[in-house]
Amino acid sequence: MFLVFPDSDAIARHLSARLTEIIRNDPQAVLGLATGGTMEPIYARFVQDALESRLDVSQVSSFNLDEYVGLAAAHPQSYNHYMHQHLFDHLAFDESRLRLPDGLTTQLEQHCRDYSDAIASHGGVALQLLGVGTNGHIGFNEPGTPFDSRTHVVELSERTRVDNSRFFDSMEEVPTSAVTMGIQDILSAREIVLVVTGEHKARTMLNYQEGGITEKLPFTALKLHANTHILLDEAAASLLDDTLCQRPPQQACA
Ligand code: GLP
Repeated sequence: MFLVFPDSDAIARHLSARLTEIIRNDPQAVLGLATGGTMEPIYARFVQDALESRLDVSQVSSFNLDEYVGLAAAHPQSYNHYMHQHLFDHLAFDESRLRLPDGLTTQLEQHCRDYSDAIASHGGVALQLLGVGTNGHIGFNEPGTPFDSRTHVVELSERTRVDNSRFFDSMEEVPTSAVTMGIQDILSAREIVLVVTGEHKARTMLNYQEGGITEKLPFTALKLHANTHILLDEAAASLLDDTLCQRPPQQACA
């Protein structure tokens, strides 16, 4: 079943409430975080709600999905920078509990192993936020990635580099590789929320609906996870079978 909302603001309100609920129930919650344009309204809304409700996030831990290889944390297009800009810098997080892969490490293989081990030693994440690339990638797990993969280094596909070039000054500046949590790491989350917005993702979602479970479309691995929720706006859901779409009642805007 797909949960369809009128727009990305309505999705953000819904997810902010869910994140707040998780943290209130367990102040030491471990969150799996994502980057990308899709997540920006969600973090903006959560920051606003958390400030208004004085939510205590000081004991929350997080693991981000991925990071570009070769970009320093301070680089404006690194995912580390993104997370500080959109979420971490606005609330009283404990920096030592916030983890992203290190795109500059010289010990990449060891770093990848340590990252997956750290997720496992935290008991897996309570909730994993996910976006999707137009080619079905999750994190940076490109088509063809084995479903039993753990954190690893990937060569980015041309399509992903072109899609992400909008954040860079030129195509040449887009990194060619990245470190990403593996699909097995992602599936170890107790709850997964995939957020898909925009007309340009409508065909990607149609492929999800019509395809089976295949490594050619990495996000179809989510069909193997019993507690996955797929949240879409009307534009991303426009090609889906309407009988598979549920439209939750909307909460009043604050
Ligand atoms: C990047 C990230 C993914 C993200 C995807 C979609 O490639 N590695 O985690 O889901 O972009 O991004 P957007 O939300 O900007 O469409």
